[in-house]
Order: sequence, then structure tokens, then C-alpha cells
Amino acid sequence: MSTLLRFRDVWVEYGDRIIIEKLNLDIEQGSFASIVGPSGAGKSSFLRLILGQEAPRRGTIALDGEPLTPECGPDRGVVFQRYSVFPHLTALRNTILGMECEKAPLLGRLFGGARRAAEEEAVAMLEAVGLGHSLHLYPAQMSGGMQQRLAIAQALVKRPRILLLDEPFGALDPGIRADMHVLIRRLWREYSLTIVMVTHDIREAFTLGTRVLALDKRRHDPHAPHRFGATVVYDLPLRARQEEDLDQSENITIDENGNN
Ligand SMILES: Nc1ncnc2c1ncn2[C@@H]1O[C@H](COP(=O)(O)OP(=O)(O)O)[C@@H](O)[C@H]1O
Ligand SMILES: [Mg+2]
Repeated sequence: MSTLLRFRDVWVEYGDRIIIEKLNLDIEQGSFASIVGPSGAGKSSFLRLILGQEAPRRGTIALDGEPLTPECGPDRGVVFQRYSVFPHLTALRNTILGMECEKAPLLGRLFGGARRAAEEEAVAMLEAVGLGHSLHLYPAQMSGGMQQRLAIAQALVKRPRILLLDEPFGALDPGIRADMHVLIRRLWREYSLTIVMVTHDIREAFTLGTRVLALDKRRHDPHAPHRFGATVVYDLPLRARQEEDLDQSENITIDENGNN
């Protein structure tokens, strides 16, 4: 397995507040990294680093051994807990929009044959996430779970290698969340994705991840809460890779303290 993302001595600071401190981390191609940690630890900032939306104050981030470039490019897709999709566009238009960014960055729109091809791809992706019958619905006409399926379709239609998920299922009911787990695991395998998922739900982190990382401060200064930043304080490998039979993970049981 090869390293896809490599962080070396990465620091994130906002003004004089240190958020992430000396982060060293390799993320392997095809892995599913679950990120847990207290609110405000810098988990979303960490995802923004991978997206290229945030530049480290110090340190380096490499993708395939090359310095990470900020771009609205095809290699990274992202889904947030809410508001990933545009309310004034149908499911189909939302999904096509995910492609237009990539294929016509200057134009912003596709025409003619390119447009028809994009539409076909978008329909196929919506079918893959279980929204084949909802192409012309607007987000407001969809349940929370359907909206997250749409957000996933919008992210995946670019065929990214890396899918970033920021508490994607946190607002969903438990039953719906379980359906989403099945979906995301299937997509992870079918599209050979590398997934980095932030979650508050320790059970979800263990159920889905091949690895669970905890982001937190090692040191606290009670008089200066932002004097120290967060880094990886736990790094638990769970299972090998996506080739492995993941149905086994259904049998993982964890107690209230998050122990296997
Ligand atoms: N663009 C920003 N400018 C200044 N402070 C920020 C910015 N983004 C996040 N922060 C601060 O950085 C800290 C970490 O935020 P975040 O990465 O969103 O944490 P988490 O996702 O773990 O809850 C918080 O204290 C937050 O207020
Ligand atoms: Mg966050």
C-alpha cells in the first residue's frame, strides 16, 4: 500500500492561536481514516488542509509525493454535515454542477454533447447513491438522508480519489445513518476511494474506519488555551484494507468507553 497523503511537521495557526501543532501523519491509498476529537480541536481545519483551502503556517503536505496544490480539481471531494448542496437546484442540476467545476472551470457551464454526457454521468451517479427516482426533486423536497446522498453524488461525480466527510451523518436519525453506512462502504469499495471522515460518533468511527485517529491537544495551558495546538494523540489501526471482507466489521462491539 502506498502513501497517498503525507503530513510533515504541519502547523495551523489563526493569528496567534495555535490550532494544529506539529502534525506528522501518512494516509495510505485506499484506507478509510476516521477522525475523532473534541469540538474545536481542529478537525475541520485538518480537512480544509487536505482540500487545499487552508495552507499550513509551517510544514509540508504532499499528495502522491508532490506538494499539495489548492484547486477545485477532480482529486478531492467533500461532504459536510449540512448545506453541501444548492437549495435552488434539482438533484440532477446539483450533481451536474459538481462536474462543471472540473470540466469547464472558466466557463462554469457545459454545452451540447458535453452537457448530455455530463447529464448521463450525473444520472448514473444519482442511481448509484439510490436517488435514481429523485432526479428532479429540490433539496427541500428531500429528507435529510436523501440530501446527504445527493451531497455524496455531487462529490463523487468528479471521480475524486479522496473523499472528505465532515460529520456527514451527524444530523441523521440512527436508522437512516445505518443505511448511509452501508452506502458509503459500498461506494468506498466500488470507486476505490481513500476516505477521511470526521465524526463525533465513536461507534461510527470504529464501524467504518480502517483506522481511527484522535486529534487533541497533548498539552494544555489553562491561562492560554490557544498556546498549544492539537495533534494525533491516538492512531489505532483496525483492519487491513478495503479488499478485506468488511462485513466482519459488523461484528465489532465497543463499550461505552470506545474499547473493543
Ligand atoms: N478561518 C478561521 N479563522 C480563525 N479561527 C478559526 C477559523 N477556522 C476555525 N477557527 C478556529 O479554530 C479552532 C478549530 O476549529 P475547527 O477546525 O472547526 O474545529 P473542529 O472541527 O474540530 O470542531 C476553533 O477554535 C475555531 O474557532
Ligand atoms: Mg468541525
